Amino acid sequence: MEKGFTLWFTGLSGSGKSTLADILAERLREKGLKVERLDGDIVRQHLTRDLGFSKEDRDKNIERVTFVAKLLTRNGVAVITSFISPYREKRAHARNEIGEFIEVFVKCPIEVCIKRDTKGLYKKAIAGEIENFTGISHPYEEPLNPEIVVETDKESAEECVDKIISRLVELNYVQK
Ligand code: ADX
Repeated sequence: MEKGFTLWFTGLSGSGKSTLADILAERLREKGLKVERLDGDIVRQHLTRDLGFSKEDRDKNIERVTFVAKLLTRNGVAVITSFISPYREKRAHARNEIGEFIEVFVKCPIEVCIKRDTKGLYKKAIAGEIENFTGISHPYEEPLNPEIVVETDKESAEECVDKIISRLVELNYVQK
């Protein structure tokens, strides 16, 4: 059986987590890996539909995702998660639970995320129409020791994905 792992993307809304994770999932499938995606926008419509964006609810969201990622990882799946996951403590918990865990910090200045505003949510958050919005009225704790950092305001999506795959090869999770 292939060695499973979880690639844990963290970063602000609009930083590019889902885009990169989707491209990466395709690239790893082409390499013959069994891949599963867990994405915030989708998981929140199903597994965590009952949750909002208070600290308590985000913690529950990440705990449930951690549980699922752990099950998949131990069965040889390449799991790719994309959640803001703003709290260091919860990411550390995911790391401890899952074991084969690679943290990818999708780094992008908030000014750039605001400019992109892919979902139109920053505009609403700044206007005060959405509360507890990450980076505006709710914290984001940057990773201190992520395995991988990609900077989506400086590197193209393809460059970011290539960088992640090279690192996975280095870490022996993926063959060249
Ligand atoms: S997390 O904090 O619990 O990890 P998650 O990644 O699941 O967040 O969901 C984030 C997505 O929910 C954002 O990309 C955005 O589309 C949407 N969203 C709605 N309200 C908020 C909010 N208050 N803060 C952040 N994201 C929000």
